[in-house]
Amino acid sequence: MFDVVYDIGEEASKIPWLRNFESRPLGVWRYRELLPVEDYRRVVSMNEGGTRLIRCSNLERELGIKEIYVKYEGDNPTGSFKDRGMTVGVTKAVEVGAETTICASTGNTSSSLAAYSARAGLRCAVLVPSKKIALGKLSQALIHGANVLAVRGNFDDCLKMVKELSSDPRFYLLNSINPFRLEGQKTAAYEIYEQLGGEVPDHMIIPVGNAGNIVAYWKGFNDLKSLGLVNELPRLMGVQAEGACPIYRAFIEGASEIRPIENVETVATAIRIGNPVNWKRALKAVRETRGLVEAVSDGEIIAAQRILASREGIFAEPAGASPIALLIRAARNGLIEHDSRVVCIATGHGLKDPDIVLRSSRNLIEVDAEIGSILRSFGDARASLT
Ligand code: F0G
Repeated sequence: MFDVVYDIGEEASKIPWLRNFESRPLGVWRYRELLPVEDYRRVVSMNEGGTRLIRCSNLERELGIKEIYVKYEGDNPTGSFKDRGMTVGVTKAVEVGAETTICASTGNTSSSLAAYSARAGLRCAVLVPSKKIALGKLSQALIHGANVLAVRGNFDDCLKMVKELSSDPRFYLLNSINPFRLEGQKTAAYEIYEQLGGEVPDHMIIPVGNAGNIVAYWKGFNDLKSLGLVNELPRLMGVQAEGACPIYRAFIEGASEIRPIENVETVATAIRIGNPVNWKRALKAVRETRGLVEAVSDGEIIAAQRILASREGIFAEPAGASPIALLIRAARNGLIEHDSRVVCIATGHGLKDPDIVLRSSRNLIEVDAEIGSILRSFGDARASLT
């Protein structure tokens, strides 16, 4: 695995191009001097990034925490944070003259890679688990014209296959082993810094599957420090699902390595991963920032998804709502102090996986087209925090 390093010199905070950022719209390419692309005019882009940082005052009141924000990555072109990475990764694929892009995916990576490859005129093949993939994501990969192969196995099996395929130079691998993807993803940290008026939060809560994204945030915040823009990094808190939590286990055991989990299971299919590739750097990121990794149950995730939607109007897919599950728990047990500023990353749009909601909702109430019958049927369908 390799990493991208920039020579930003010593007097970093005086670098004139930092001022260039201000004249460009918020988004990945606002920060092009900090991205590894030779010729900006050739980037494969759909204006990704520039996602909303939404203040959640209803949750603040209910949980007794001073400042809570959701960075809503569902705002991205294909509905997840993956687009930040793919705009850079697919641009790189074009730069190196690749024919076909490939990835293993629990869903969102495949949607994003399929869309960006279509735009770049590249062939695309995606390997997804034959079961447990959200239908919205699958339909995206299909409509963008990717070869979608449903592998009899889980994400870890798919990743093994694409890694093997990538030794053939015709195939360009775009999983988060590819360092260019994480470069694009790190821009979310820059955006949060700007959206908070040139400050970073106390805590960041980030869902963890293959563990690339938490590493990308760590990189992004570290860049801000190297540039002399901030002194402290936020505490990075990773969230895994109880049924797929190898990094959490290593973290609480104080272990130096993870033990992969064979039979993973969670309603948050996006993070249903037992052998994450970026575990090492993820553990380093949380340990160095005095953060932590926690595991939340499917029940907590489903409840958090509904609470976020019914309190704040924000619809995130289950993995994207998992930070709220941790936030609720952390507010209760004092893990997060009441005077904190917290940013939760809602990594993907709720419409990616409507089945989950329909399965856990009350049945539709059928009524006659008659006012009396309609009024009698009104109830309170909001979720409860207790
Ligand atoms: N949230 C969502 C919605 C995701 O799709 C993913 C990963 C994550 C969180 C975790 O990010 O892997 O960088 O730790 N989805 C990948 C995929 C694995 O194939 O779409 P990570």
